[in-house]
Amino acid sequence: MNFEDFPPENAHRILAPRPTVIITTSGAQGEINAAPFSFVMPVSMNPPIVAFASAPSHDTNKNIEKTHEFVINLIPSDILSKMWITGEKLPYGENELEKAGLTAIPSKAVSPPRIAESIAHLECEVLKVSEIGDHNLITGYVTHASVKDHCIKDGLLDVEKVKPVLHLGGTNFVIGDHLRRVE
Ligand SMILES: Cc1cc2nc3c(=O)[nH]c(=O)nc-3n(C[C@H](O)[C@H](O)[C@H](O)COP(=O)(O)O)c2cc1C
Repeated sequence: MNFEDFPPENAHRILAPRPTVIITTSGAQGEINAAPFSFVMPVSMNPPIVAFASAPSHDTNKNIEKTHEFVINLIPSDILSKMWITGEKLPYGENELEKAGLTAIPSKAVSPPRIAESIAHLECEVLKVSEIGDHNLITGYVTHASVKDHCIKDGLLDVEKVKPVLHLGGTNFVIGDHLRRVE
């Protein structure tokens, strides 16, 4: 059996495809920010803690340092192209949700909004921001969670129905067993 060497700095291309989320945060004056992330994972069940990794230069990271809250919004296949628009680098304070045509709705427990078009939301309070390599690892306590009606089957996400967008790398995504590329 033969194996090719693979660049270790591309380990994230092996740990793939990953769920794609849009993380919403607020600035000190309540300005809304939204950006896609796929370096996202659960860390603890009881208490419920999740984590994601953000480049320190991202507005998301700046808002986290200021207001210590975030919302993880899980992305269904029908808003793939809108999710991509939220990844554009806008000047600080400009709202990517408006640019993408996505709808902000109030969260139950934190200031940053939820996204109406998303499948599920995890509202989080920041526990810790740790510098790890070229990213910051942000852990957050899940203060409230919500899932769109009829999207849970037998306690699990009904993936056949909601078709979550999975990030393979760059412009490449997996939806069901199909490969999709964003233009
Ligand atoms: C599908 C997808 C996944 C991404 N995942 C991450 C990630 O996990 N961590 C990260 O730092 N940037 C990630 N990015 C890049 C940021 O979303 C992008 O740089 C964005 O402009 C940051 O926005 P902000 O400055 O408003 O926070 C991802 C982009 C896309 C399209």
